[in-house]
Parts: sequence; structure tokens; C-alpha cells
Amino acid sequence: MKNLRTIIALLLLCTVRVSAQQISSPSVSEGMGIRPTLSVGLLKSPQPTSREHRLMPVPAAIKFQAGRLKIDASFTVATEGHREARLEAAIHRVARRLEGRTGFTFSREQVSDSKSATLLIECLGPGSAVPSVREDESYSLDVSPERAVMKAATVVGALRGLETFLQLLEADRGGYFIPAVSIQDKPRFQWRGLLIDVARHYEPVEVLKRNLDAMAAVKLNVLHWHLTEDQGFRVETRGFPRLHEMGSDGLYYTQDQIREVIAYARDRGIRVMPEFDMPGHATSWLVGHPELGSAPGPYTIERKAGIFEPAFDPTREELYKFLEGFFKEMVTLFPDEYIHIGGDENEGHQWTKNEKIQAFMKEKGIKDNHALQAYFNQRLSKIIQKLGKKMIGWDEILHPDLPQSTVIHSWRGPKSLAEAARKGYDGVLSSGYYIDLIFPTREHYKVDPIASDSDLTAEELKHILGGEATMWGEWVSPETIDSRIWPRTAAIAERFWSPREVTDVDDMYRRLDAISIQLEELGLTHEKNVDMMLRRLARTKEIGPLKTLVSLVEPVKGYNRNQAGIDTMLTPLTRLIDAARPDSQAARRFGLLVDRMLSDAPHFRRNHDRIRMTLSEWRDVRPALDVMIDGSPVLHEARQLPHDLSEIGTAGLEALAYLAADMAPPEGWREARMAMLEEAAKPKARVEFAMIGSVRKLIILAAEMANLKSIPHSQWKDRVLTLSEEKSR
Ligand code: ACM
Repeated sequence: MKNLRTIIALLLLCTVRVSAQQISSPSVSEGMGIRPTLSVGLLKSPQPTSREHRLMPVPAAIKFQAGRLKIDASFTVATEGHREARLEAAIHRVARRLEGRTGFTFSREQVSDSKSATLLIECLGPGSAVPSVREDESYSLDVSPERAVMKAATVVGALRGLETFLQLLEADRGGYFIPAVSIQDKPRFQWRGLLIDVARHYEPVEVLKRNLDAMAAVKLNVLHWHLTEDQGFRVETRGFPRLHEMGSDGLYYTQDQIREVIAYARDRGIRVMPEFDMPGHATSWLVGHPELGSAPGPYTIERKAGIFEPAFDPTREELYKFLEGFFKEMVTLFPDEYIHIGGDENEGHQWTKNEKIQAFMKEKGIKDNHALQAYFNQRLSKIIQKLGKKMIGWDEILHPDLPQSTVIHSWRGPKSLAEAARKGYDGVLSSGYYIDLIFPTREHYKVDPIASDSDLTAEELKHILGGEATMWGEWVSPETIDSRIWPRTAAIAERFWSPREVTDVDDMYRRLDAISIQLEELGLTHEKNVDMMLRRLARTKEIGPLKTLVSLVEPVKGYNRNQAGIDTMLTPLTRLIDAARPDSQAARRFGLLVDRMLSDAPHFRRNHDRIRMTLSEWRDVRPALDVMIDGSPVLHEARQLPHDLSEIGTAGLEALAYLAADMAPPEGWREARMAMLEEAAKPKARVEFAMIGSVRKLIILAAEMANLKSIPHSQWKDRVLTLSEEKSR
């Protein structure tokens, strides 16, 4: 009996194989897949209705009306009220982007009658001379079939509104248009940042500029520039040139470049806050200035990732003189109100081993290393206050002796943020927004700077200024950094800007896919660099099979990438793991197809053909991949992946075949397939398949059909989801 079932199942599989190859144009109602790969990529994306727009972040209040404002070659912009170069430049950039999308050439003439302009901007005033955490970023935008009118109190508000205007652009058979709409918008949090660590890996100015453009597109307003680390000192200092000369491998920003980045950011309404991490994370300072360290040295630039011992010696008066001179120079460069002093992960090993430091602590009654760091922070805080700046540091610096004006930057968990707020300190949240850890967007999206169960009072809540995504730089190069930041950071930006009720994950992903493409027009490389990297890996232009594989894998998560400790800051970041991206879109879209199919009990016809074609592609891509991998030694580490992909595809096809035949799989099939999935789920070449959970659902569905029939159809899907979640634990 068992053998007969197996034979029937195999016969069914052969049928599947043939039909999958024959189907090249699925029915219209199923979407417009032309080839199997495309069929997954091109889910139906309906034109927005009053509830379905593509704005990210979602505005505070939005109301669509009937009608549309046509966008054609006659498009013009006029301003009333305050006018200045920053606004003119922003209008110019927006017009060029609109031209880029539509192919029209707009008139370069000023519009004399502002009432006849397609877009009228009424701006009341300039706002802060230096971008400020208190900036009024609000705006309103009213679009009617006749024209669009934007009103803003400041230029920065107008900049935010212009980005919304661009995101509103839609198209259909009738041409390009902006739907009639009324928007009243302002941010939920005033501090909405992105940390870019340029110390582990140096990032050229053009990388920063394109990321500033992307930040502006999603209304982020702080570039937290992590400039110094064990692995590099990236700022030119005139007063202490040995810092950048000896601590940077020649990879540092000149003072002119720093001014250029700050001006570029200001033009986009973005603050630039520098971080000089101390007293730990400071090896690169000590290469040229070993006398500042807590051990004699000599020191060399750190090449590994991790936490290291070198730390400033807080007992030496010369250190404070040095820092005063250093910061005196830095405040001439960085106009922002805040200076970030790091303060994280100083384990104090050098302090414990240094007899002089121990004697100092005894004499002053400083009881432990944390208290010694608090002593250092107090001294530092005086220097920074004297220079007219506010100090911000990572949450380790929270200590009863810390001045109230200090801002606490929480990275170890939301608790420290709440604790700081309760004690009257302003705070910024980064815990939950560590984009270097490669977690999917939805994980970051559900983290709110104010937890839903927060017991803070209204007064205490005012201390929570916002949050920052953190792009730590150990494993990113100029080639890959965009793909680690974008598009995921757009969803984090939404968390910081939009009302807290905006939490629909599916809707977020729908809009994120649109934003991701728009970000490319700003020169972002998160999409396009994948192909380039795959061509280099495969040594050919014909990268189709490798693209299929890479679209389905994600880099290993958390801190698993360098478990073996082999990689250093000098390791080229050009392997399969670097070409792979977080939060696989192909896996997510396959998951959507499967979930929708599961909702179609008891026949499961919905998406059946598309799922089958996709699975067939996975099964059949193996020979071409094997040849590619064999011929390219750098890919040899990935040898197992085509085999696994093929097995995953086959297992899914078997499940579909059993379902289509309404036939129970043979004994042992489910266990064998689950065991195979478990093996396939293990990382290889430091990447992992992202669609295994969806195939697991198919297998469980096929295996459970007989049992499901005893419960109502409406419960089938939930039952399958529960069983597959149990399996994945
Ligand atoms: C940190 O991640 N050490 C701030």
C-alpha cells in the first residue's frame, strides 16, 4: 500500500514538472507573471484608494478627496512668504526628481502669478539657523484638481511637505497625477536619527550624501556621525594632527569635507551630531597619543571586531587639558547643540590593572570602575558645557552624579530609557533599532520608543525625545552599506514620525516596496549593487540562477557573522553573505502567496499555480548553479545551497501534488521532509534560507489534510499555522 502511494505521488510530481514548464502566462486574474521568477515578484499592486496610499512615513492626518491634480509638462512651483536659497534648492531637487520619474521637461522660468502654479508653497519663516531638535517641522498640504497648496511655518516643514508631495505621485492610463487630498502633518518625536559608524569602515563623503538624501526622503532629522573607535579616528584635527594621521590609515574627513557634509545635511533639514567615543573604544586615539591611555602602549589601530581594553586614564589632569583643546576645535566644526561622548562598553580592565589608577580611586573614595567613569563623565561634562554644548552618551553613563542636562542614549534595552526619564533625563532609544543585526523590518517596526505598557507620567514621557537606527560599521563597505540601511530604515523612520497607531505590518511592507524603488533615484545602491556583486562573484553577466538563490537567502543574524573570529576590518566584504540582503523580499512574497492559499480552504486553489511555478524554479535551478559555483572558487563555500534549494522546492511540490490529488502522503514522508528542512535551515556560507517557514506550512497542510477534515474550514489555516510554528521552535 505504502509503495503504491509513493508511485502515485511520483507520477503526480512528473505531471507537475511538465505543467510548470508549460505554463508561461498564468491567468489574468492571477496577476501578470511572465516567467516563474517574475510571478512571485509581481504581486498585484492596485492603485491607491482613499485608504491605500504609498506614503512613508504615514502623515499625522490624511483625508483623500475625489479628483486628481494632473502632473504634466506644464508643472510649475511658486512660493509665497519667506524665500531663501535652501528652499529654492529643495524645490529644484524635487522638480528634477519629478522630471526623472515622468520624463517631462518642466519650465525653468519663475512663475509670476503664484496662483497659477501647480504647487504653491507658503512658508512663514526660515526656522532655526542651525537645524535644531526644537525645529517646527509641521506642514499642511491641500491638493485639489486645480492645484496643490503647501503651508509651513519653517523651511524645514516645507522640505518635509515636498517629500510627501513627491511620494503622492501616482500614474495610470490617464497619465501622472497627485490624488486630491488634505494632509496635516507633524512628527510624533522630535529626534529621529540614523547613526552611521564610519570608524570601523570608512565611508566616503558621497556615501554620506546619498544617505542624507534618503534620510530626508523619509523625514529623518539627525545624522549621528560615529567618528572615532578602536578601529579608526576619522576627523582631521589641526590641534592634534597625530590623531588622524596615525589613527586612520589615511582614511579621514578633512575639515572642509566635514563642513560640506554638515551643509548638505542642513540643506535637507538634518542635524549632524558627532560622536567621539570615550573613555573606551578609544584605541585609535592612543596610537598617536599613548600618554592618554591607562597602559603604557605602544598602541596600534585595532583590526578586529569586539570590545577592547584600551581606555583613557581618567586620573590624569593632562587628559582633561587635551580633551578641552580637542573639543574647542571640534565645536568650531560641528554646530549641533549636542556632542555624543559614547561611554559604552568600557570594562575598565586597564584601570583595574593600573596601580596608579587604583591608588587615585582609593584616595578619592571612588568605589569601582563605574564610579570612576562617572568621575570622568563629570569632568567631561564640564568641558562640554563650558563650550556651550549638551552632552549625550550611551546608557552606561547613567549615574547619580551625572548632570541633568545630559541625554541618555539607550542601546541596552528600553528599561534604561524609562529609568532615565523617571530620573528627569532626556533620552533617545536605539535598542530595537540595531539594523546591523540583519533582523527583518517587521521586528524593528514593532518597537516603539514608548512601550505600550509604559507607566511613565505625562511629564516623564516628555523626556523621551525619539530614537535612532544604528548602522554599526564592522561588516559594511561603501558597496554594501546602503543595503543594510535601506529600505528597512524607512519603516523605522515611520515609527518615529507617524502616530503610534500606525502598526499594520502588511501595509508597511506594501509601502516599503514602493519607497525602496524611489530611494534609488537618489543614488542609493541597495538594489543595484546586488547584481554587480553577483557578476563579480560569478565572473559572468549571466547571473540569473545566482540571483534566484541570493534573493532567497539572508545573511546570518545577530552577532553570528564572525563567530569564528576570522574576519577583520581588512577582510573584503564581497562574498555571498555581503551580496545577500536582510529581510528577503522574494521569501516574504512567497510567504504571502502561501498564506493566501491557506486561507482558501478546503480546495487551496488560490495562488496554486504561482506557488508551483516558484517551487519548480527552486527545484530546477540546481544544475546551472552547480556549474557557476564550481567555476568560481570564492563561491565554493556555497556548494550545499543549490542542493538544499532543490530539495526545498521538491518537498513543496510534493505537498502541492498530494493536496491536488486529495491524497494523504505516505508514512514517514512528513518526518523525512521536516528533517530535510531542518538541515536546509542551517546556515551555509553564512547565509540562511528565508522561505523555509512557508514550505513547512505546505508540508504540514498536506500531511494534516485527513485531520483537518474533522474541523470547520474556517479553522484550517490557524491549525496549520499553529502546527508549523510548533515545528519551527
Ligand atoms: C553600543 O552598541 N556599544 C552602543
